[in-house]
Amino acid sequence: MAASTDGEAARFEPGEGHDTTIIVNGDARSVPSTTSLLSALRAHFGLTGAKPGCGEGACGSCTVLLDGKPVRACRQSVAGLDGTHVTTIEGLASGDTLHPVQQAFVDVGAMQCGYCTPGMVLSVTALLDREPDPSDEAVTEALTGNLCRCGCYSRIRKAVHRARELTSEPSLGDPMAARRRHTVSGRPTRCRRACDRHVRGT
Ligand code: FES
Ligand code: FES
Repeated sequence: MAASTDGEAARFEPGEGHDTTIIVNGDARSVPSTTSLLSALRAHFGLTGAKPGCGEGACGSCTVLLDGKPVRACRQSVAGLDGTHVTTIEGLASGDTLHPVQQAFVDVGAMQCGYCTPGMVLSVTALLDREPDPSDEAVTEALTGNLCRCGCYSRIRKAVHRARELTSEPSLGDPMAARRRHTVSGRPTRCRRACDRHVRGT
């Protein structure tokens, strides 16, 4: 078990029990079974992309995927999750290549502070996995549990459509085009670096 990084283990753990092993972004990781999933990810594994917000399952900033389905990590205990696959925002990109949903958020600038962005990206990823061409109503429904304090909802909806384009018609989406627009002499601008950090959850 990795050491706690920021005291969150003490905040979220009621006590020690036997260990549970979950598969996080493809790697088997063990943590005491009394740990919340959010604490396991952030305090034990150092994956801080899932953000602590309300702590009550209401804001969606802590959203991760459990076997492909969005869950609120703040309300989910790891007990009983042995062998379950957990995908966090850190597990979406392949090296330097962003996942199409991450790329879509960058392309349309679907964020301000970026605090909600990892949860939004994962909820949209799950939506497009189960419904590749969702209606506007389905998009609204899928994102009902993800709150954006900055009010970027219209651009987030645009990002869903952009992600669908990138996924279904690769010729439309030169996924690197927007990134190139945000470079000066081949180096990322501050805005590009900030966008990249938000969608990668770093
Ligand atoms: S912090 Fe988990 S839903 Fe708000
Ligand atoms: S971009 Fe700030 S909370 Fe959504």
